[in-house]
Amino acid sequence: MLRLAVRTGAGAGRSFVAEGDGVRIGRAPTNDLVIDDSHVSAEHARIALGPAATLEDLRSTNGTSLVRGATRIVLGEDSAFQAALENGDVIELGSGDQVTYIDVTLQDDRDEARVVAVRKIEDLGRISAGVEENPRSLSALYRVQKKIGAATSLDETLVAVSDAVFALVPRGTHVTIVLRDVDEPSGAYVPVMTRVRSASGQGTAPAGPVPVARSVFRKVVGERAAVLAADAPRDVGQSESLLGASIRSTIGVPLWKGDDILGVVQVDNRDAPAMLSQEDVEVLTVLAANASLAIAGARLIQRLVTAEERLKKENTFLKSREEKRQTAGQPILGNSQPMLTLLSQLDKVAETRVTVLIEGETGTGKELIASALHYRSRRRDRLFVTQNCAALPENLLESELFGHKRGAFTGATDEKKGLFEIADGGTLFLDEVTEMPPPLQSKLLRVLQEGEVRPVGATHPKIVNVRIVAASNRNLEKEVAAGRFREDLYYRLKVFPLRVPPLRERRDDIPLLASAFLKRYGAEFGRAVGGFTQQATELLMAYDWPGNVRELQNEMQRVVIELEDNGLVTKELLSARIRQVEGVIARSGASKGTLREMMDTVEKYVLLEALREHNHNKTSAAKTLGITREGLHKKLRQFGIS
Ligand SMILES: Nc1ncnc2c1ncn2[C@@H]1O[C@H](COP(=O)(O)OP(=O)(O)OP(=O)(O)O)[C@@H](O)[C@H]1O
Ligand SMILES: [Mg+2]
Repeated sequence: MLRLAVRTGAGAGRSFVAEGDGVRIGRAPTNDLVIDDSHVSAEHARIALGPAATLEDLRSTNGTSLVRGATRIVLGEDSAFQAALENGDVIELGSGDQVTYIDVTLQDDRDEARVVAVRKIEDLGRISAGVEENPRSLSALYRVQKKIGAATSLDETLVAVSDAVFALVPRGTHVTIVLRDVDEPSGAYVPVMTRVRSASGQGTAPAGPVPVARSVFRKVVGERAAVLAADAPRDVGQSESLLGASIRSTIGVPLWKGDDILGVVQVDNRDAPAMLSQEDVEVLTVLAANASLAIAGARLIQRLVTAEERLKKENTFLKSREEKRQTAGQPILGNSQPMLTLLSQLDKVAETRVTVLIEGETGTGKELIASALHYRSRRRDRLFVTQNCAALPENLLESELFGHKRGAFTGATDEKKGLFEIADGGTLFLDEVTEMPPPLQSKLLRVLQEGEVRPVGATHPKIVNVRIVAASNRNLEKEVAAGRFREDLYYRLKVFPLRVPPLRERRDDIPLLASAFLKRYGAEFGRAVGGFTQQATELLMAYDWPGNVRELQNEMQRVVIELEDNGLVTKELLSARIRQVEGVIARSGASKGTLREMMDTVEKYVLLEALREHNHNKTSAAKTLGITREGLHKKLRQFGIS
């Protein structure tokens, strides 16, 4: 039992009895023990309750210390960020004259668990001899071992072991398997699977969480023994977890390999008053001896598979980086004023660590700009990692970006590195960032504020140094106004906004882009290309390009396929939608003069036509043209029409 008594400050006089597997302490209301003092960080510290209790400082601003008699341990300075907690310790949150003192009472509640039977694993030989005398147990054991042996993955092995427990212990209603997290320095034990006996007798996943009986768990690990405990004591304070789950009797059996306790299998009988028996303990001990081997083996394989996947994934990134590098030098074409402005902004911000938000319609070149930001920065030798936030459902996107620990959720049988970590030192491009679900928006905000990521199910955050570049083809301000995008996140992202103008706002770039793409695809398809006829160029410049540069690029790719060797691109080769503006050009009489003069003639013609169509009603003419009434007035004045 862990009791925390706050001695000073805002929470003075309050005491707190820990339930569950940990206590989070901090100023934020989401903590278990909330201490509303300004020198306490929002998430200041945490106590993990396993077989031993550990105190961890969560990189708080003012620090956490542990005072034990005459010694003081400052977490993160004198020691690691975590330290084992003992009865009588005093936790200090903060430093100097602003400190909150918390007294720790930690009592081993093993005696309160009313232990009925203990079978040490060193007595395994004698125990199995006893079990083997009973032919029914022997054949039941044989049947379940066969199933465990047939399992091909860690998940399957764990399910087979829990099914085996239900088969061998008819009165057992709940099975929980806890395994030690071998990747964590603290080696915390994590529940990895819980099954409930269903009406058919088979195990199924439970509806809610099933707590582990800590008192039993501790005795199993501490004494390296299978333990049967029964009848939770009346005194509420003494064994919270037993009472909270209203357990009638519980068996905890160790999983082991040599001296190492790999984990614990816990069986409960909660529904009926009938007791689990000593025979149950013995048969489970024999089962556990073999299950331990199966689980250790499956886990090893799983770790190898994961390691291989991780390598593959990192390899893919490295490979695509190599490919991107070749295109990294790919120039951003454009001589128009809007593009020159954009490029000079890009060069200014590239060298900094500042978060960049790129806004622009589809196909305008947002991703090209994002990669230029990376390859023109000092980060160019690290990874440029991209993730489209619209491509995955929420939970997959979360573990993709942040990673997860083993046991974080059903199916999370091993650790996974998130993209934030993979991109460490480099750039993470979050495409279509407005599609990120709200809970992830909050998580992203934390990364931007604190520079740390917390993998799903992880006890402590990891510091990462990643430059975030986000992009969207939506108007973020509107998304914020509509309540779909967090305003605080918007301001964090918008530190340096870049707007990529649509192609129709920089028509001067069209000839340049069109010939560059024509040459590129000509070379790619091994075809000599000529140029464009005057008419074709005019049509390309007059068209509105709703799909922007990508649409132009696709059009050129198609044209090259149809082009004869050394042929010129004529208007006939262009798609019908682009040729549609042709009629207007012909009718307007714009066939000679400079390009500017011809464009003016066409524009004037279009304005007059629209006015005529709408009986000179300027409001409706402007609406058809997609401009404001004032805009129309301005144009008319410009052309001397009144
Ligand atoms: N200024 C440019 N110079 C050369 N190529 C460009 C330019 N702008 C865009 N492109 C090319 O056009 C294509 C589309 O660009 P990109 O994928 O960057 O657009 P996007 O804005 O990310 O589009 P979406 O919103 O649809 O994701 C790419 O092949 C890119 O290389
Ligand atoms: Mg894109």
